[in-house]
Amino acid sequence: MPDTPAAHRLIVALDVPDATAAKSLVNSLGDSVGFYKIGLELAMTPDYFPLLDWLAARGHRVFCDLKLHDIPATVGRAVQRLADSGADLLTVHAGQTAMLEAAAAARGTTLQVIAVTALTSLDQRDLTELGVTTPVDELVLRHARRARAAGLDGVVCSGHEVGRVRAALGPDALAVTPGIRPASDQAASDQKRVMTPQAAIRAGASHIVVGRPIRDAEDPAAAAMSIIDSIEQGLATRDA
Ligand code: C5P
Repeated sequence: MPDTPAAHRLIVALDVPDATAAKSLVNSLGDSVGFYKIGLELAMTPDYFPLLDWLAARGHRVFCDLKLHDIPATVGRAVQRLADSGADLLTVHAGQTAMLEAAAAARGTTLQVIAVTALTSLDQRDLTELGVTTPVDELVLRHARRARAAGLDGVVCSGHEVGRVRAALGPDALAVTPGIRPASDQAASDQKRVMTPQAAIRAGASHIVVGRPIRDAEDPAAAAMSIIDSIEQGLATRDA
C-alpha cells in the first residue's frame, strides 16, 4: 500500500437512490476518480449488479459496501459469488473469527475483503447496552488484529483509530477511513467525529471514503481534485 498514488486512495461513495443518479455523478467526476463505493441503498434496487458492470467496464474499481454478517458458511458462499462479479473490495462485519476466515478463504484472487471494526454511529453507551465494556478504541484494535489474523485484507475504521490500527497491522494492510470532511467543510458538518483527508492519510489510512462533500458540491470534480491534493499533502507529511 505505501506506493499507491494519491488519486487511487480516494473512494467516492455513490450514496444515491438509483443507477441513473450514480452514473451522472460518475460522469461529472470524469477521470479524476477511479474508485467507487456502492452500498446498501443501491443494493436494494435492481440496478446494483448492472451498475457494478458499468463501473468495471469503464476501468473503475468498485467497493461493495455490503457489511455482510451471517453464519460462516453463508458468508463464505456469498463472498464466493461476489468474487466472480468484478468487484474489487467488500466489507464484512468483524463478527466471529470463523466467519472472517470463511470470507478470507472464499475471496479468490481479485476481490479484497475488509472488516468493519465498529460502526462510528456506536458510542460507548450503545456498546454498554450491547454488553460490551471494552473502550471503543481498544475494541477497534482487537477486531483489526483478529481480522488480519483471519486472513482478511484490512479494516474500515475511523480517523481516530487509524493510527493505532496502522501501527498494529503494518504497512500493507488496507485501512479504509470514512467520516472525512475537507478543512473548508469542518464547521458545516453534521458529523461529530470527522477528519480532513490530509490528517486521515497522514495518520495511516490507505484509502478515504468521501460521500456528501463531493456528491453535494457545486462542482464535484473540483471538490474531488481538492481532496486528492489534500491526500498528496497527507502522504508527503507521513512519518517515514
Ligand atoms: O459522510 P459521507 O457522506 O462522506 O459518508 C460517505 C460514506 O461513508 C457513507 O456511504 C457512509 O456509509 C460511510 N460512513 C461511515 N461512517 C461514518 C460516516 C460515513 O461508514 N462515520
